[in-house]
Amino acid sequence: MIKFQTGKIAKAASFLGREDIVKEVETYLSMGQSVVLIAPRRFGKSSIINKILEDNKNRYKILSIDLMGIYSKRDFAEHIINNIYASIGIYGIIAKLKDISIEFFKDITNHLTSLKLSIEDISIETTGKFLKQTDEDKLLSYALELPEQIAVKLKHKYLFVIDELGEIDKFQSKNELLEKMRTIFQNQENIVFLFAGSQYALMTKIFTHKSSAFYKFAVPIDVPTMKASDFQELFKSVFYSNNISIPKDFAKDIEKISQGIPYYMVRIAQQVLIDAKLKDQINTYCYSIRAASLKVYTKEVSYFASELSKLRGRKYDFTILKALSQNINHTKALAELGVSRQNANTIINSLISIGLVQKRERYRIIDPFMQRYIKKLV
Ligand SMILES: Nc1ncnc2c1ncn2[C@@H]1O[C@H](COP(=O)(O)OP(=O)(O)OP(=O)(O)O)[C@@H](O)[C@H]1O
Ligand SMILES: [Mg+2]
Repeated sequence: MIKFQTGKIAKAASFLGREDIVKEVETYLSMGQSVVLIAPRRFGKSSIINKILEDNKNRYKILSIDLMGIYSKRDFAEHIINNIYASIGIYGIIAKLKDISIEFFKDITNHLTSLKLSIEDISIETTGKFLKQTDEDKLLSYALELPEQIAVKLKHKYLFVIDELGEIDKFQSKNELLEKMRTIFQNQENIVFLFAGSQYALMTKIFTHKSSAFYKFAVPIDVPTMKASDFQELFKSVFYSNNISIPKDFAKDIEKISQGIPYYMVRIAQQVLIDAKLKDQINTYCYSIRAASLKVYTKEVSYFASELSKLRGRKYDFTILKALSQNINHTKALAELGVSRQNANTIINSLISIGLVQKRERYRIIDPFMQRYIKKLV
């Protein structure tokens, strides 16, 4: 059965639409051209990545890292090392290397024979030495180089995915780190890269500023919002299979409220379904969508609070967000507080940079539910 789910990546049958962008990315990758997907949070980047991984698992070996949960260079390095060995069927190498036994080498040697590899080919001993390194920069350089070494021995192409690349911002000396990554990556002939990130300005800076390390390394692709037509069939079939009818414009109405952000499209439809089932209703109406949206909104409040807590101490950022939420010109709002136009621009650019605000005709808060939350804040 096809299910509604959020909070997880949209997989298999619950992955909808996106044909053009998937094809575009796959074409670039097949030419050996690395790509970076750029879109605000919840626009469906990770789902697109997952779809591409599913489509291409025979073409490439996969190495996939999400920087969201990674807090140090050592951690980053260890993730790469664990994943690269896992890609050739050796799981949990880091834990295993802490407690090496003869058995361990026997097992690995047997396994490698089936891949026509030797233990030297995959540098296990060197990896063990580097893991003992206290210098995390050296360890990370080694880890970043390892995939290409293994790809060459294995005679197989790799697709190296780094999701939430914008999180690199939290690392110490991040510019040096980016430079190091670029220097190492650009010589890797057997690896093609797929990056994704939500902080629009930061991502474009990394990939399109001439002075930036990753300048021209990957083709940037903006991930757009989604359309009612992408969801229509799914909504229909899920509701009909529950013997519940939906109005003709159901998907369109949800698109309007969620502004095409897939996360909200799914969440709202899911809530309408739950509400109808709990009340044993066989019909849903326009107001069912509004009622459901309100519930979805309420459940998101803590997410908004936590996203906005990242701005703590930056009081003018709030002034701007508040103004935008009320359709008031931000320079005007700040001028009233004696802030110059130039400073107002710097602040709005920082809000764009972290992916909360977008300029489309005018400046606006990207997430319509967050906008509502900010509007209500006193
Ligand atoms: N193509 C799609 N088809 C159906 N649902 C989708 C699709 N893309 C995204 N979604 C829905 O939106 C939710 C968020 O998508 P996803 O996690 O891929 O976004 P993201 O851009 O990676 O977000 P984040 O920045 O928070 O990591 C998914 O859990 C899913 O419910
Ligand atoms: Mg994601």
